[in-house]
Amino acid sequence: MANFSVFASGRGSNFKAIHQAFADSHHKLVCLVSDKAGCPAVAYAVDQGIPVVIVSYKAGSRELAEAGYHDAHKKYAVDFVVLAGYMRLLSADFVQRYENKIINIHPSLLPAYPGVDSIKRAFEAGEQYLGITIHYVDSGIDTGPVIYQESFERLPAMDLDEVEERVHNIEHRAYPEVLAVIFDTGPSK
Ligand code: GRF
Repeated sequence: MANFSVFASGRGSNFKAIHQAFADSHHKLVCLVSDKAGCPAVAYAVDQGIPVVIVSYKAGSRELAEAGYHDAHKKYAVDFVVLAGYMRLLSADFVQRYENKIINIHPSLLPAYPGVDSIKRAFEAGEQYLGITIHYVDSGIDTGPVIYQESFERLPAMDLDEVEERVHNIEHRAYPEVLAVIFDTGPSK
């Protein structure tokens, strides 16, 4: 059995998909961590009665904000950290502490299109294959060992909205499935 936290800064559609997928699981979503108190992910957590931890980067350094994660993780005995649209870069120190226990999802076939607006950039570049990547996190931006990738072929008639919808549908199905396997088997060494 694993306890996991989800980190999210925005819309929270992956957070919601994960919450629903693990509702009856022996693996437990113990808290949402966010740097954005007003974001939809926080509103969903509050509505669902999921404990919320807000970390503020305004008051000082990233290290100070990350001290907030450590406190929360101790309190909730967190085994794994699941990033789902978390828009902050984690420090090398934090990443080392949770080596092979922090997982991220990214809406491109990494190493192509790391960073923001990945789907739009891949679409505008005319890529024939688009998709998602689930990976362990290191201290870089969307780097770290790849766990799972899934692609699809873009049909000529597909517009950006359709491509985005397809990418997100894959994310919402694949992320909980892959997480369940990781939680079942424990962190990779
Ligand atoms: C997703 O596309 C995810 O791959 C990326 O950020 C987006 C978050 O979307 N890391 P949401 O907040 O889960 O809707």
